[in-house]
Amino acid sequence: MSKPKTPIHFTVDGKKCQAFLGQTILQAAKDNGVYIPALCRWEGFEPAGACRVCTVRVAGRTMAACTQPVTEGMAVENNVPDLQDMRKSLIEMLFVEGNHMCPTCEKSGNCELQALAYRFQMLVPRFPFQFPARKVEAAGKKILLEHNRCIKCLRCVRGVRTRDNKAVFGALRRSRDKEITVDQALAAALPEKQARQAMDRCPVGSILRKEVGFVVPIGKRKYDKEPIGSDVEKAKD
Ligand code: FES
Repeated sequence: MSKPKTPIHFTVDGKKCQAFLGQTILQAAKDNGVYIPALCRWEGFEPAGACRVCTVRVAGRTMAACTQPVTEGMAVENNVPDLQDMRKSLIEMLFVEGNHMCPTCEKSGNCELQALAYRFQMLVPRFPFQFPARKVEAAGKKILLEHNRCIKCLRCVRGVRTRDNKAVFGALRRSRDKEITVDQALAAALPEKQARQAMDRCPVGSILRKEVGFVVPIGKRKYDKEPIGSDVEKAKD
């Protein structure tokens, strides 16, 4: 028999919330209808704490909500001006660090970075564009890897594996020089469902399933219909 879960109580911006011991702040907030923006997290996989978009503050200390467990009596600050501005600056930074040409991107409307930029009403980034020289790996049979749009969240590295548990994607180098790699032989052997999942796991338009472009027309895609986070916020209305 599984052990009963221990209920605990905490607040987010003063809102009383309930959680279970062992949940992260991000998960517990979601269960209480509170949206904390997140980019590198993918439910069901170990959090990487890579993007810091989920940063919250507890007792004056900032922390990643996707990795920090919630504790009894915790008072979490989430939707406060300085944290929102910090998150917006991180999103702006991700835009200027790569080459994101949203109007020509297959993921436009399904892109979490773009959707967050809309949520945070990003207009002109406060940082200069870097226009890095990056490549496109288009020679693979099923998967195209567009490095210009990669935000190095590592969701693909953690979440795309073959049936015999081999990693299809990897990461070279660290920090700014980090580069995602793909084993095109393994990628070509992925069953159709998993190849599509690889594309879905990527929060931006960096991993594309070849030959199925624009199946859902622009204007009818996920975030064309409802803003990111609204599903969480609506769930507890
Ligand atoms: Fe928490 Fe990226 S979602 S660090």
